[in-house]
Amino acid sequence: MHFDAIGRVPGDPILSLMEAYAQDPNPRKFDLGVGVYKDAQGLTPIPHSVKLAEARLMEQQTTKIYIGGHGEPAFGKVINELVLGADSPLIRDKRAGASQTPGGTGALRLSADFIAQCLPGRGVWLSDPTWPIHESIFAKAGVKVSHYPYVGRDNRLDIEGMLTALAAAPKGDVVLLHACCHNPTGFDPSHDDWRRILDVVRKRELLPLIDFAYQGFGDGLEQDAWSTRLFAAELPEVLITSSCSKNFGLYRDRTGALIVCAKTADKLIDIRSQLANIARNLWSTPPDHGAAVVATILGDPELKNLWVDEVETMRLRIAQLRSGLVEALEPHGLRERFAHIGVQRGMFSYTGLSPEQVKQLRDQHSVYMVGTGRANVAGIDATRLDLLAEAIADVCK
Ligand code: LMR
Repeated sequence: MHFDAIGRVPGDPILSLMEAYAQDPNPRKFDLGVGVYKDAQGLTPIPHSVKLAEARLMEQQTTKIYIGGHGEPAFGKVINELVLGADSPLIRDKRAGASQTPGGTGALRLSADFIAQCLPGRGVWLSDPTWPIHESIFAKAGVKVSHYPYVGRDNRLDIEGMLTALAAAPKGDVVLLHACCHNPTGFDPSHDDWRRILDVVRKRELLPLIDFAYQGFGDGLEQDAWSTRLFAAELPEVLITSSCSKNFGLYRDRTGALIVCAKTADKLIDIRSQLANIARNLWSTPPDHGAAVVATILGDPELKNLWVDEVETMRLRIAQLRSGLVEALEPHGLRERFAHIGVQRGMFSYTGLSPEQVKQLRDQHSVYMVGTGRANVAGIDATRLDLLAEAIADVCK
């Protein structure tokens, strides 16, 4: 029959952890797998600002008619300002345009197809390691994938290795950079490092594609945009993918954008015509709800202030969990070994635990994390840090 030859593929290594965790009957289990924020109660709440915006939309929305290929202009405006800064000359000069996409992943898919179709022959350089879906999205779009080193054997940022590899990248290739809160490692370049990366990008005439999925989870909403704004100010052309999944808690509403910074306002119109055309063949027009929520929040000073506070609360909680875990490991003589957890930023930590240790943690202690040793710090239950530290110490014996 038609389907006889179709085999089975393994489940997504990150998403399948959610299922395995849910099925584990152990009440002492820990979910450090998929990148979602959890509060002190272990819940991933809908931010209050989002609930208020949703209530307003329910009342005021009068139609569900299609929105255009680039989404709702009000969303495009606020997301551009959030990412590039409200006073950005790029916005003033109409050189930056946001296309609404189904999540940050949709923005990545749109950029991959844009590169494949409009910049044929250009390869993309990804950090080693990176979010696994970066690898598959570009490969499936037919873009050649190469890697630059990112983390050394000592489980520290390998900035020299990264710069050396990029300095040898073919001119014109695309380099994917994580704006902040690198996924999976949590290691971010310093401001000086970013300036050196910028130099290499400029010299090799690389096109930066900046993945900005965790704005507000590192050092703050504005601080986290520093590298993106530096590149957008210093280079004529930049691609930026932005996600509202984490900072607005809109995970399942699939809300994101691809922002293109072009040399001129006229060129931006050309590029946006291509993006609308590509998107039409991918998802036709983007989903509206999450983007309408974001536009409502960022368009209203009171809701925006509330949201800014809510993001800051999430950020501070993650930072506390990081230092709390390092402290909890101290009595086991492991403070030094895991000191990097306090240095890393955002939800994720490359713990340095081996795949065998990760398996042991899961099998013997019901601690779930990605096989590469990536832990979602934002998923830790702060009241049970000692228990988690004990489990880690046990597999480090
Ligand atoms: C993660 O890396 O856990 C998140 O970005 C969620 C996902 O879609 O993989």
